[in-house]
Order: sequence, then structure tokens, then C-alpha cells
Amino acid sequence: MDEKKPSTSDILAKIRAQKAAAAGAASPPAAETPAPEAAPVAEAPSAAPTPAPAAPKPAAPGAKPGSTKDILAAIRAKGAGAPAAAAPAAAESAPASTPAAAKPAAAAAAGPRPSVQDMLKAVREGKGAAAPAAVAPGAPKPAVAAPPVPAKPASAASKKAPTPQRRSLACILLVAVASLACFIGSALTGSGLLFLLGMLVWSTLMTPFMAAWASLIEVASLGTLHTARFMMPNVLVEPPSKFKVGPISDYPLNTVSNKWKDQFGVWIVHTDQYEGQNLIFALASVCTHLGCTPSWLDGEQKFKCPCHGSGFYITGVNFEGPAPRPLERMGLKIAEGMLEVDKSMKFQEEMGQWVDPASFVSVS
Ligand code: FES
Repeated sequence: MDEKKPSTSDILAKIRAQKAAAAGAASPPAAETPAPEAAPVAEAPSAAPTPAPAAPKPAAPGAKPGSTKDILAAIRAKGAGAPAAAAPAAAESAPASTPAAAKPAAAAAAGPRPSVQDMLKAVREGKGAAAPAAVAPGAPKPAVAAPPVPAKPASAASKKAPTPQRRSLACILLVAVASLACFIGSALTGSGLLFLLGMLVWSTLMTPFMAAWASLIEVASLGTLHTARFMMPNVLVEPPSKFKVGPISDYPLNTVSNKWKDQFGVWIVHTDQYEGQNLIFALASVCTHLGCTPSWLDGEQKFKCPCHGSGFYITGVNFEGPAPRPLERMGLKIAEGMLEVDKSMKFQEEMGQWVDPASFVSVS
């Protein structure tokens, strides 16, 4: 019970002693190693006066390095280049049983101890400049071949320069439009100069291939235009059938107004010579012979047809020439205080229609 517990340091020291004893037992003493090269060194009392006890772990082939110092020494020996490479050889030539003697021998063979910077430099040169190192130092540098220039993509080339097909198509369209415009202008204005210009453009600027395409385009365009025109209704712009001609006061008694003759084809007559009635009526300016337009002769107080000489009184009744019947009246009434003519209504005297109140306006 009074026995004192061993401390941690004691336990570790004991374990290390056991490991050292086991290592010493596993490998025979260095002095007894039959290596022929190691024998002289082992027998030299100055190089290794005491065998194994002070020596570190033996450098068994394939075994792990013993201490950190050994690892660093091995790295330095590898990184120091050719001179340093002799160190391992010397170390290997030394007996394995005398590592203490091998260290000074390796150090002497390696010369001054390389610094960490030297080792890094040697490693970098060995890795990064492997290919250049193969070239002799004094030899000229090999000519570096220029890298091949990549070819431009086809899309970029096609954007800059249009293909011949596109250019010819654009030319065809331009010529077709120009000549078509000339022909349409010639048809609309009746200009022969435009037609000749269109023919000139047609014949001189086009190859047979282009002419064929332009002909096709123009024929198709003209066909489309004519079809569109055919689909549109034919609208005749005519004056309205009903129109106001002003108040009664604008037409004095026994006068004929030519104001509406050109626009509506009627005379407005105010007279009291027809059956003694004071009337205003609208006469159609159409000769009843063959349809010519008579003229009012104010000095002779009659209508005279220039075609065959028919004559009509101010009342519209025919009295000379080939006209077979009087002039026709049109509908007339008062609307909103104004005289309103209705050309859709016609009244013939020989038919007894002049008595219709729709054919005149009575002035009291
Ligand atoms: Fe007027 Fe013949 S058309 S007289």
C-alpha cells in the first residue's frame, strides 16, 4: 500500500527503454555486421569508439527514418543536387552500424549545409525548367513556331460580304420595282417617256436570268393589282338628286337662271307666260330631239339647241326645229324657306304632267 505510483515520465522512460532494448535485440550489433566496407570504419577507434549505445536507430533498408534530423538530412541531401548526391553514397558506404560516423562523413561530402531557400530554388528549377534543362546552355534557342491563326467563322464572313445569290436577288428586285414603277406611271399618266424608260431599265440592266425573274414578279404584281381593282365596286360619283337653289327672291319674274346649268343640268325659270300663272319651275337642259344641251338666249327670250336648231319658249314649249315635244320639268318645292329641286322626278307637258303641283312653285 505504501508503494508509490509511477509518474508519467517514469512510464514513458520505461517504454522508451523497452523499445530501445527491443530494437537492439532485433538488429545485431554493428561491430558484428559482416559488411566488408563497414569493417574498416567500424574498427577505427577514432570514428566510432563506442558502438550501438549512443547510435540512433539503425538505418535498416526500407525502414522509416528515425528522427526529424535524419529526415531533414535526407531531404537536404536530395535537394542539394549532384555534389550533395555524394553524401548518401558516402553515407551508404559507411557502415550501418556507425550512423554517428556517417553524419560527419556525409556532411563533409556535402560541403556547407544548404539553406532552405537553396533547397526550394533547386526544387523549382528541377520541376519548372525540366524541358529547357535538356537544351545545352550555349546552344541557340530553338525557333518558336507561330501558332496557327484560327479561321474566321462562316457567319461573320457572310455578314460582311453578301453571297452572289443574295446580291443578284436584290438586284432583280430593284430592277423589277423600278421598271414596274415606270410602267404603272406610264399607264396612269399616259406618258410614253415613262414607258420607254421602263423598257430601257428592263432591257439593259438585266441578264436573261434576271429578266425571267423580273417578268414573273411584274406579272404577279400586275395580276394582284387588277384582282384588287376588280374586287372594288365601281362607284359613279354623281351630284345628289335633291339640292337647294336658294329663296324665291333670287329669281325675278320672266328671267332664266343659268346658275345651276353646268353643275346640275337645270334652269330655274320664273315666268307668268304659261297659262297666265306666276310660276317658278325647273327645266332640264336636255333637248328633246337628240339630247343636246340648248342655250338660253336672253336677247331673243328663247332656248336654242345648237345641234339641229330646235327652239323653245321661256315656258319650255318647243316652237321650231325638229324637237318633237317641250322640255321636261323637274320636281320643285319649298323646303325650309328655300327652293329645292328633285331631279328624280320628271314631268312632261304632252303627258299632262305639268299640272302636277310638284312640278312648280306658285308665286303669289
Ligand atoms: Fe336639239 Fe336636235 S338635238 S335639235
